[in-house]
Amino acid sequence: MLPVALACALAACTPAASDSKADAAVATPHPSATPVAMTDAQLLAHGEYMVRIAGCNDCHTPGYAESGGKVPKTQWLVGSRMGWNGPWGTTYAANLRLKLADMEDAAWLKYSAELHTRPPMPDFAVRDMSEQDRLAILRFTKSLGADGEPAPAYLPPGQTPPLPFIEFNLPPPPAAAASSVAKPAAAG
Ligand code: HEC
Repeated sequence: MLPVALACALAACTPAASDSKADAAVATPHPSATPVAMTDAQLLAHGEYMVRIAGCNDCHTPGYAESGGKVPKTQWLVGSRMGWNGPWGTTYAANLRLKLADMEDAAWLKYSAELHTRPPMPDFAVRDMSEQDRLAILRFTKSLGADGEPAPAYLPPGQTPPLPFIEFNLPPPPAAAASSVAKPAAAG
């Protein structure tokens, strides 16, 4: 049900040790360095595509995953009352229609490139998207218009959230994963 990258992050698993030759062979500019080439209309269509396939709707649109994606577009991205409870406390997928409504392109590109949230939001995936992908998400979300209520406030660890919530019972991270998190700059 959850995207693979997310399940991986939650289990604190770590990619196979990197081979420096292989890394050099696939060295390409970071996607965020690619200039935006789409027209406004193309950005809008691409934004809808991104929101459909990159998982945003799965968590930020109530009932989307449960109904197999059969939620009208007018109800997309309004945030959710489903709590995600784990060692980080309880988080709620934000109302992106409200959050992004007044954001200018430059502000969003800076904010999304540096996005750091609590789990299970795949902030790492958003940070790794090209500027074009992130701009497309902004344009599409704004096109839906500001609507809905803010999602419930984050609850710190140790507080039992009201129903409904999804509870993660995670093993302690393996030592290898913990040390690779501590030294992210080691990768070539
Ligand atoms: C697995 C569920 C999940 C998926 C998939 C997901 N989100 Fe989230 N998102 C969350 C949760 C939960 C939060 C709140 C995190 C917190 O409280 O720190 C959040 C927070 C955010 C925030 C920060 C909002 C704020 O108020 O600062 C942004 C922006 C965001 N998500 C955008 C996206 C986009 C864009 C996508 C698709 C690429 C996406 N999310 C996919 C669950 C998800």
